[in-house]
Amino acid sequence: MQLVTEDNITDLALERWGTARDPRLAEIMRSLVRHLHDFAREVQLTEEEWLAAMLWLTKTGQISDEKRLEFILGSDVLGLSMLVVQMNQRFDDRATPATVLGPFHIEGSPELEFGGDMSEGVEGRPLYVHGVVRDLDGEPVTGAVLDVWQADTEGAYEAQLDVDEARLRAKYTTREDGSYCVRTIAPKGYTIPMDGPVGDLISRTDISHFRPAHVHFLVTAPGYRPLITHLFEEGADYLDSDVVFGTKAELVVPLIPHDAGPTPDGNTSSETWLEARYDFILQPT
Ligand code: BEZ
Ligand code: FE
Repeated sequence: MQLVTEDNITDLALERWGTARDPRLAEIMRSLVRHLHDFAREVQLTEEEWLAAMLWLTKTGQISDEKRLEFILGSDVLGLSMLVVQMNQRFDDRATPATVLGPFHIEGSPELEFGGDMSEGVEGRPLYVHGVVRDLDGEPVTGAVLDVWQADTEGAYEAQLDVDEARLRAKYTTREDGSYCVRTIAPKGYTIPMDGPVGDLISRTDISHFRPAHVHFLVTAPGYRPLITHLFEEGADYLDSDVVFGTKAELVVPLIPHDAGPTPDGNTSSETWLEARYDFILQPT
């Protein structure tokens, strides 16, 4: 009979979890056990602290549903989500870098024409985001689909609201010359949800709970890796302290102010508007 001691418990657990029939699962579980045991030893975890952690995890599960993904939020604020993106989306230096998907993407957004307004009925400063989708050699990519979503000026995404119609999200397809044009409103910085266990943990620190103003893009085209990214507003608050570590210098763009007049979609605006020009560069598969 093998007696369990403080000294041999890690080896016993490693042996047990090494029996996972999928070799990758065995590798992951053994590594997890090793790091968890090392962690508990390093901080000399007390029973009260262990229980507090178990209750925190329980609450994180209880507050989650198909729209509220509190575990993912926890992963985001720990920097784990962005680390996994960076390890798995290593693109050529010329390609547009990827960043976190975030919890608010909704499938099946309506398809809009070049310059179509995805912010119809929502208050805000008119913004045109336009440019060309290109390959690594700078050649335009025809028929690329840009799935675009963002928060309103209160920081709310459609997924957080009880609405029937698509709100601040749409799909655009690039034209023959690779060009696209999104009509929307200027984004604002917003706080991540602070009313759950992740917010509770953050509020015990000096960590800023805000994200800098951004618009989300998922760009897909046959023959290219899907690109999940954002564009951030140059000069926005929180660029240096993004709570989910999602900011990258290559994704920061100026919003250029314009008087009423011609807009990038060939129409004319009767009010002042903002312009962001950006070419997305895709990584081939
Ligand atoms: C977002 O940008 O939508 C987001 C990303 C991670 C956590 C919360 C929000
Ligand atoms: Fe966002």
